[in-house]
Amino acid sequence: MPCLVTVGGFYGDEGKGKIIAYLSKKDNPVIAVRGGVGPNAGHTFTFEGMEYKVRMLPSAVLNPATRLLIGAGVLVDTQVLLKEVAMFQSEDRTYVDAQCGVIEQSHIDRDRSEDHLKSQVGTTGTGTGPANADRALRTLRLAKDVPELSLYLEDVSNSVNFALDSNERVIVEGTQGTYLSLFHGGYPYVTSKDVTASGICSDIGIGPKRVDDVLVVFKAYVTRVGGGPLQNELSEEEAKNRGWLEFGSVTGRQRRASPFDIELAKKAIRLNSATQLAMTKIDVLYPQSAGVREYAKLPAEARKFIENIEGESGLKISLIGTGPELYDIVDRRS
Ligand code: IMP
Ligand code: MG
Repeated sequence: MPCLVTVGGFYGDEGKGKIIAYLSKKDNPVIAVRGGVGPNAGHTFTFEGMEYKVRMLPSAVLNPATRLLIGAGVLVDTQVLLKEVAMFQSEDRTYVDAQCGVIEQSHIDRDRSEDHLKSQVGTTGTGTGPANADRALRTLRLAKDVPELSLYLEDVSNSVNFALDSNERVIVEGTQGTYLSLFHGGYPYVTSKDVTASGICSDIGIGPKRVDDVLVVFKAYVTRVGGGPLQNELSEEEAKNRGWLEFGSVTGRQRRASPFDIELAKKAIRLNSATQLAMTKIDVLYPQSAGVREYAKLPAEARKFIENIEGESGLKISLIGTGPELYDIVDRRS
C-alpha cells in the first residue's frame, strides 16, 4: 500500500490529524502531501504531552524523515505557513507547489465581512472561499509570484508520482470532511471545493489508478461548526453531559454535536471509495477504552459499537483512537 489517501467522513474535525501523525511515525512515509482547501483546516495532535496544531503543513511534521508537501490545489496563507515552518524547523523538508493559490488580506477581509459568508454559511473567515473565487476568475496570485515562498517551490505532482514510481510510501492528507464538499455536501453550507478522495487526489496531482488505499476517518459521534443541517442534533446541554462539546481549532467556535450516523457514514464510504476505516475518540463514548492499545482489551460495548459499524458498512475499522496521545490507538492492520 504505497499510496494511502486519508479523508474525513463527516463534517471535518474527525481527528484526521492524530491518525496521520500516528501513521507517519509508524509507517515512516517518504512523503506526506496535503490536499484540501487551505488554512481553514486545523489538524491537532498530541505527542508526549505536547499539543501541536497545523493549518498548512501536513500532520506528519513530527517525523523528521518525511518530506512535507503541499499540493497545487491547496491555498497558501504565506504567514501561516512560514510560522509553522519555523515552529517545526522544517525549512529543508517543506515543499510548496509553484501553482498553489495565495490568500491575500483582501480575501480574509471579504470572508469576514460578506454577510452571506459570515452569517449564513458561517465560514472560518480564513479567506479561502474568496481566494478560490478569484482563482476561478483567473486573477489569483500563485505561490511562484511570492518571493517569501521561493525557497520552497516545487512541482509537487512530479515528486509524488516519482516517489510512487519507486514504490515509496506516500500519505495523502485530506482536509475538511466529505459533507463539506462543494459538490457532495449540503450546499450552500459547504466549503469552497470538493474535498472527497477524488478531489484531494486532484489537488496534489495524482490520478485515480495511483491510489492503493482510501482511509475514511470517522469520529465516534458527529460534530459540525458553522451553518447547515445536522440530523439528530443534541442540545448544548446534552452534548455537554455526554462530553461531546468541542471547540473549533481554527476559530474557537463551539461545535454542534449528534450521535454517530450510519447512513451518513455509508454514503461517505461510497463517495470516497473507502478501502478501510478509522474511528477516533472511542474513549469519549466508552471511558474504559481510554489509552487501550489492544482490541481485546476494549470494553465489550466499545467492541460491539465497532463491529456493528463494520457489519453495516462491510469494511474493517483498522485504526481506533483511544485518547489524544499519538500512540493511544488500536492498530488492527496486520
Ligand atoms: P470555509 O471553508 O471557511 O469557507 O467555511 C465553510 C464551512 O466549512 C463552514 O461551515 C466551516 O465551519 C466549515 N469548515 C471549513 N473547514 C473546516 C474544518 O477544517 N473543520 C470543520 N469545519 C470546517
Ligand atoms: Mg479541524
